[in-house]
Amino acid sequence: MFCFLSQVLGRFNRARAARLALPHHVCQTPLFMPVGTQGTIKGLTTNQLEEIGCQIILGNTYHLALRPTSELLDEAGGLHKFMNWPRALLTDSGGFQMVSLLHLADITEKGVTFQNRIGADIIMALDDVVKTTITGPRIEEAMYRTLRWIDRCIAAHERPHDQNLFGIVQGGLDPILRDICVRGLVDRNLPGYAIGGLAGGEDKDSFWRVVAQCTAALPEDKPRYVMGVGYPLDIVVCSALGADMYDCVYPTRTARFGTALVPEGVLKLKHRAMADDTRPIDPTCSCMVCKNYTRAYIHCLVTKDAMGSQLLSYHNLYYIMQFPKGDVPEWVCNAMEVAGIDISSCCAPFSS
Ligand code: GUN
Ligand code: ZN
Repeated sequence: MFCFLSQVLGRFNRARAARLALPHHVCQTPLFMPVGTQGTIKGLTTNQLEEIGCQIILGNTYHLALRPTSELLDEAGGLHKFMNWPRALLTDSGGFQMVSLLHLADITEKGVTFQNRIGADIIMALDDVVKTTITGPRIEEAMYRTLRWIDRCIAAHERPHDQNLFGIVQGGLDPILRDICVRGLVDRNLPGYAIGGLAGGEDKDSFWRVVAQCTAALPEDKPRYVMGVGYPLDIVVCSALGADMYDCVYPTRTARFGTALVPEGVLKLKHRAMADDTRPIDPTCSCMVCKNYTRAYIHCLVTKDAMGSQLLSYHNLYYIMQFPKGDVPEWVCNAMEVAGIDISSCCAPFSS
């Protein structure tokens, strides 16, 4: 196993910045992974992704199974070659989505075999995902199913030498279920761990509490990935709680709706006030879009030409990926102070 935090570059309370050595790229954490569906990040070329400092992108196994299909990927020699992406890739299993949509009984083994064929640097175990807003026995059932499935994933995994299988902690908002799951996964000594089932409509306090509990229980020397997280505030807070990796469609999806991410929050380029605003999207941003285009120009394009959302996606991904960079994660705690957030309440030790 070579997926580990090979070098910790800095620590600040629970936050850390580290090197994460993956087969196709040595990444620096904390990091944000843009989400691609059919082997693309909508509207951007892989050259542009490299240009904006993207280290690793996420593909969805479920979508890839439908198109370009497993056979085509095999022929191409894996997804890296098929999409011309030289750096790291992570594939998400699709979890329960695959089970319910593809109606496959032996889904766990098939899911892993397919991820082996895609050839990503990190492959996610199959998990049973339940919305955090649901309560009752379904949460417990999903957590135990996720634990049973991890052993089938480990057994079916054909490429442990060059693909890192990450386990996913489930258990809803219940600290006892999360504790059972996190311990079970840590016992399997996996190369990395994700915290799943979050960012689905629960309140922030409950969300951060689960992240705080899981990061405290996960090994220091392995990467910790909070799935589906992409709001700048959540990235800051989760990093302060000791998480290292994030993914979300938010920066690119919101770009397609004409919204830019800026230090003050968001900027709606469709707004009439943008029509004669000759400033760049973010005057403090050094991305290609902010160096070359005005708000007025992007206002003209947005909704009328694909280039509008492409330029916005470019800026938004640049913004969100720049944001967690820096050798010592002191920025995290400073940002928290500025935002007036006190995480000490959700860091109280959990005892079962
Ligand atoms: N994406 C966001 N949350 C999850 C999760 O809990 N499991 C999986 N497999 N993918 C996710
Ligand atoms: Zn910019």
